[in-house]
Amino acid sequence: MAGRRTNLALLALLLLAFVTGGASWLIGSALVRWIVIAHGIVGLSIVVLAPWKRTIARRGVARRRPGTGTAIAFAVLIGTSIAAALVHVTGVVRSVGTFSPLGIHVATAIAAIVVGVAHVVRRPVRPRTTDLSRRNLLRSGAVLGAGAAGWLTLAGLLRATGARGGDRRMTGSFEAGSGVPTSMPVTQWLNDPVQELDPASWRLHVLDGVRNYSVDELAGFGDTLRATLDCTGGWFADQEWRGARLDRLLEGGEGESIVVRSVTGYSRRFPRSDASALLLATLVGGVPLSAGHGAPARLVAPGRRGFWWVKWVTAIDVGDEPWWWQPPFPLT
Ligand code: HEM
Ligand code: HEM
Repeated sequence: MAGRRTNLALLALLLLAFVTGGASWLIGSALVRWIVIAHGIVGLSIVVLAPWKRTIARRGVARRRPGTGTAIAFAVLIGTSIAAALVHVTGVVRSVGTFSPLGIHVATAIAAIVVGVAHVVRRPVRPRTTDLSRRNLLRSGAVLGAGAAGWLTLAGLLRATGARGGDRRMTGSFEAGSGVPTSMPVTQWLNDPVQELDPASWRLHVLDGVRNYSVDELAGFGDTLRATLDCTGGWFADQEWRGARLDRLLEGGEGESIVVRSVTGYSRRFPRSDASALLLATLVGGVPLSAGHGAPARLVAPGRRGFWWVKWVTAIDVGDEPWWWQPPFPLT
């Protein structure tokens, strides 16, 4: 395959990998299964093109000009990201020091965006209309087909060998501590430190503090919900949560959206119509939440990834802004 076409194919695959990878964290419905499969096929198609890219890279390095350092840094980041993803998928190694293979995969992929943009700017490739010819589309199909064959082979091997990776949830996460809350890992989105709050003096402020609740008052609502906490760190746990449903806490509060705030300043916004599906939990598996899991009260948001399950909740309000008026992923 000509060098130019290989580079353009890599560009398209890298963009698709970012879009499907990001979407796999944003979408909670059953559609996520197909997004995660598409992500795997796209990622493995990049591996399929590696022999062609190696020829291009060898020729490029021999030219000795500025920009080679950037190209090599990009190659190292992408290589590490794909290797970490494959380690995650097998389930054989679950942590490298304090990092999970999935965490390394996503962190190196994000770092690769910046370096990759610099690489493509320094080594531009101009698309031509003939790139969309029937023959080239067939070639692209063949690359994706080889990626899909690789994905099926990997999935088959995981099943056949009984590797832990064969039991991943549709999001790619591994089961950890279902029904046993003390066995759930403690993870935070980016940098929020674990809060040790005094349950006796803690109060939940609702609707701008018009209503205030103690832990016992919340527990008194007695609403229960079975829901799966699926962390973007790559683990999930199914638990029974108990506390107060948000439609009961917010009765009479009018607005477009609900904002749930943590004492750390972290917050997420939800559609007002979701109130009856959301629970503010004080108990999990019949016992009070631990500090690491958000005591005295955390949000339970079924069908949404862990970063929506706000911990150490201090206030719940309704507002006129639409729920999507926030960064898709929290920035702190
Ligand atoms: C998997 C992703 C990629 C990796 C790991 C990668 C890596 C490299 C490396 C190591 C080189 C040789 C060093 C140099 O020329 O200074 C190179 C060259 C080059 N790359 Fe990439 N690259 C990737 C994707 C792309 C993309 C998406 C484009 C453009 C759309 C591109 C365009 C080029 C060009 C034009 C050259 C120079 C080739 C030559 O001089 O003959 N690369 N790349
Ligand atoms: C340079 C961009 C990326 C590449 C090349 C890439 C590639 C890959 C590959 C090859 C796999 C293994 C798939 C399999 O065999 O099933 C994978 C898995 C995964 N990636 Fe990425 N990825 C990229 C970016 C991202 C981003 C930005 C995210 C999330 C924000 C992400 C999330 C995931 C997840 C959750 C899995 C696990 C899926 C599973 O267990 O089946 N990736 N990725």
